[in-house]
Amino acid sequence: MPGSLGHLTRRFFDVLFSAPLNSAERMAVEGWLDSGQAWVFFSQPDPDQRHGFHAALVVIAGGGDLDVIRAALLHDVGKRHARLGVLGRTYASLAMRLGLPLTGRWQLYRDHGETAARELDSLGCEDLIVDFARHHHGERPPRISTSTWDLLQLADQPPKTSAAPKDE
Ligand SMILES: [Fe+2]
Ligand SMILES: [Fe+2]
Repeated sequence: MPGSLGHLTRRFFDVLFSAPLNSAERMAVEGWLDSGQAWVFFSQPDPDQRHGFHAALVVIAGGGDLDVIRAALLHDVGKRHARLGVLGRTYASLAMRLGLPLTGRWQLYRDHGETAARELDSLGCEDLIVDFARHHHGERPPRISTSTWDLLQLADQPPKTSAAPKDE
Protein backbone atom coordinates (compact mmCIF):
# COMPACT_ATOMS: atom_id res chain seq x y z
CA MET A 1 0.00 0.00 0.00
CA PRO A 2 -0.48 2.38 -1.72
CA GLY A 3 1.32 1.56 -4.98
CA SER A 4 3.82 3.32 -7.21
CA LEU A 5 3.74 7.03 -8.01
CA GLY A 6 2.60 6.16 -11.55
CA HIS A 7 -0.24 4.05 -10.15
CA LEU A 8 -1.26 6.91 -7.85
CA THR A 9 -1.22 9.41 -10.69
CA ARG A 10 -3.36 7.21 -12.93
CA ARG A 11 -5.78 6.53 -10.08
CA PHE A 12 -6.03 10.30 -9.41
CA PHE A 13 -7.25 10.96 -12.95
CA ASP A 14 -9.28 7.74 -12.90
CA VAL A 15 -11.20 8.99 -9.86
CA LEU A 16 -11.49 12.51 -11.25
CA PHE A 17 -12.96 11.56 -14.64
CA SER A 18 -14.72 8.22 -14.12
CA ALA A 19 -18.18 7.95 -15.65
CA PRO A 20 -20.98 6.13 -13.82
CA LEU A 21 -21.73 2.62 -15.05
CA ASN A 22 -24.40 2.62 -17.75
CA SER A 23 -27.42 0.34 -17.62
CA ALA A 24 -25.80 -2.49 -19.59
CA GLU A 25 -22.74 -2.40 -17.35
CA ARG A 26 -24.89 -2.41 -14.21
CA MET A 27 -26.80 -5.41 -15.55
CA ALA A 28 -23.54 -7.24 -16.17
CA VAL A 29 -22.41 -6.59 -12.60
CA GLU A 30 -25.76 -7.81 -11.25
CA GLY A 31 -25.26 -11.00 -13.24
CA TRP A 32 -21.86 -11.64 -11.68
CA LEU A 33 -22.74 -10.90 -8.04
CA ASP A 34 -25.33 -12.19 -5.61
CA SER A 35 -27.73 -9.67 -4.08
CA GLY A 36 -25.65 -8.93 -0.97
CA GLN A 37 -22.46 -8.49 -2.97
CA ALA A 38 -24.29 -6.29 -5.47
CA TRP A 39 -25.60 -4.06 -2.68
CA VAL A 40 -22.05 -3.55 -1.41
CA PHE A 41 -20.70 -2.95 -4.91
CA PHE A 42 -23.33 -0.35 -5.80
CA SER A 43 -22.83 1.40 -2.44
CA GLN A 44 -19.45 2.54 -3.77
CA PRO A 45 -18.91 5.94 -5.38
CA ASP A 46 -19.00 5.93 -9.19
CA PRO A 47 -15.20 5.96 -9.66
CA ASP A 48 -14.80 2.85 -7.48
CA GLN A 49 -17.63 1.08 -9.34
CA ARG A 50 -15.89 1.96 -12.61
CA HIS A 51 -12.55 0.71 -11.26
CA GLY A 52 -14.07 -2.60 -10.13
CA PHE A 53 -15.92 -3.04 -13.41
CA HIS A 54 -12.76 -2.41 -15.42
CA ALA A 55 -10.93 -4.93 -13.23
CA ALA A 56 -13.63 -7.51 -13.93
CA LEU A 57 -13.25 -6.99 -17.68
CA VAL A 58 -9.51 -7.55 -17.43
CA VAL A 59 -10.13 -10.77 -15.51
CA ILE A 60 -12.61 -11.98 -18.12
CA ALA A 61 -10.16 -11.17 -20.91
CA GLY A 62 -7.57 -13.20 -19.00
CA GLY A 63 -9.84 -16.22 -18.67
CA GLY A 64 -10.66 -15.85 -14.96
CA ASP A 65 -13.66 -17.69 -13.54
CA LEU A 66 -16.58 -16.20 -11.58
CA ASP A 67 -14.78 -16.13 -8.22
CA VAL A 68 -11.91 -14.17 -9.77
CA ILE A 69 -14.36 -11.77 -11.44
CA ARG A 70 -16.02 -11.21 -8.08
CA ALA A 71 -12.66 -10.67 -6.36
CA ALA A 72 -11.85 -8.00 -8.95
CA LEU A 73 -15.23 -6.30 -8.60
CA LEU A 74 -15.23 -6.19 -4.80
CA HIS A 75 -11.61 -5.69 -3.73
CA ASP A 76 -11.92 -1.96 -2.96
CA VAL A 77 -15.37 -1.87 -1.30
CA GLY A 78 -13.70 -0.89 1.98
CA LYS A 79 -12.77 2.52 0.59
CA ARG A 80 -16.30 3.85 0.73
CA HIS A 81 -16.27 3.81 4.55
CA ALA A 82 -13.61 6.52 4.56
CA ARG A 83 -15.87 8.89 2.56
CA LEU A 84 -12.88 10.69 1.06
CA GLY A 85 -12.95 12.67 -2.18
CA VAL A 86 -10.15 12.74 -4.69
CA LEU A 87 -8.06 15.25 -2.75
CA GLY A 88 -8.47 13.37 0.52
CA ARG A 89 -7.49 10.13 -1.19
CA THR A 90 -4.46 11.76 -2.75
CA TYR A 91 -3.37 13.14 0.62
CA ALA A 92 -3.83 9.73 2.26
CA SER A 93 -1.86 7.96 -0.47
CA LEU A 94 1.01 10.46 -0.35
CA ALA A 95 1.07 10.37 3.46
CA MET A 96 1.32 6.58 3.34
CA ARG A 97 4.20 6.75 0.89
CA LEU A 98 5.96 9.21 3.17
CA GLY A 99 5.28 7.11 6.26
CA LEU A 100 3.29 9.85 7.97
CA PRO A 101 0.86 8.87 10.75
CA LEU A 102 -2.80 8.69 9.72
CA THR A 103 -5.89 8.98 11.86
CA GLY A 104 -9.66 9.02 11.38
CA ARG A 105 -10.95 8.79 7.82
CA TRP A 106 -7.41 8.67 6.38
CA GLN A 107 -6.66 5.67 8.56
CA LEU A 108 -9.90 4.06 7.37
CA TYR A 109 -8.78 4.69 3.81
CA ARG A 110 -5.34 3.16 4.47
CA ASP A 111 -6.97 0.08 5.97
CA HIS A 112 -9.60 -0.38 3.24
CA GLY A 113 -8.36 -3.85 2.30
CA GLU A 114 -8.86 -5.25 5.79
CA THR A 115 -12.22 -3.48 6.13
CA ALA A 116 -13.38 -4.95 2.82
CA ALA A 117 -12.16 -8.42 3.77
CA ARG A 118 -14.16 -8.43 7.01
CA GLU A 119 -17.26 -7.11 5.26
CA LEU A 120 -17.01 -9.63 2.42
CA ASP A 121 -16.36 -12.47 4.86
CA SER A 122 -19.50 -11.49 6.78
CA LEU A 123 -21.42 -11.78 3.50
CA GLY A 124 -20.18 -15.35 3.08
CA CYS A 125 -17.96 -14.57 0.11
CA GLU A 126 -15.53 -17.17 -1.18
CA ASP A 127 -12.02 -17.30 0.35
CA LEU A 128 -10.44 -15.88 -2.83
CA ILE A 129 -12.63 -12.77 -2.68
CA VAL A 130 -11.85 -12.17 1.00
CA ASP A 131 -8.14 -12.94 0.62
CA PHE A 132 -7.65 -10.67 -2.38
CA ALA A 133 -9.44 -7.77 -0.70
CA ARG A 134 -7.26 -8.19 2.39
CA HIS A 135 -3.91 -8.52 0.58
CA HIS A 136 -4.31 -6.68 -2.72
CA HIS A 137 -1.84 -3.94 -1.77
CA GLY A 138 0.60 -6.38 -0.19
CA GLU A 139 2.12 -9.77 -0.80
CA ARG A 140 0.39 -12.78 -2.38
CA PRO A 141 -1.07 -15.04 0.32
CA PRO A 142 -0.41 -18.79 -0.08
CA ARG A 143 -4.10 -19.55 -0.75
CA ILE A 144 -4.07 -17.53 -3.99
CA SER A 145 -2.22 -19.15 -6.90
CA THR A 146 0.48 -17.16 -8.67
CA SER A 147 -1.47 -17.08 -11.94
CA THR A 148 -4.67 -15.83 -10.27
CA TRP A 149 -2.73 -13.27 -8.23
CA ASP A 150 -0.94 -11.96 -11.32
CA LEU A 151 -4.23 -11.64 -13.22
CA LEU A 152 -5.89 -9.79 -10.33
CA GLN A 153 -2.89 -7.49 -9.91
CA LEU A 154 -3.04 -6.68 -13.62
CA ALA A 155 -6.79 -6.05 -13.27
CA ASP A 156 -6.17 -3.62 -10.38
CA GLN A 157 -4.18 -1.28 -12.61
CA PRO A 158 -6.10 1.90 -13.52
CA PRO A 159 -7.55 1.81 -17.05
CA LYS A 160 -6.11 3.83 -19.91
CA THR A 161 -9.49 5.55 -20.30
CA SER A 162 -12.56 5.90 -18.08
CA ALA A 163 -15.05 6.67 -20.80
CA ALA A 164 -18.26 4.65 -20.62
CA PRO A 165 -20.35 3.64 -23.61
CA LYS A 166 -23.52 5.70 -23.70
CA ASP A 167 -26.85 4.15 -22.75
CA GLU A 168 -28.97 3.50 -25.81
FE1 LIG B 1 -7.17 -0.87 -2.95
FE1 LIG C 1 -8.12 -1.29 -6.68
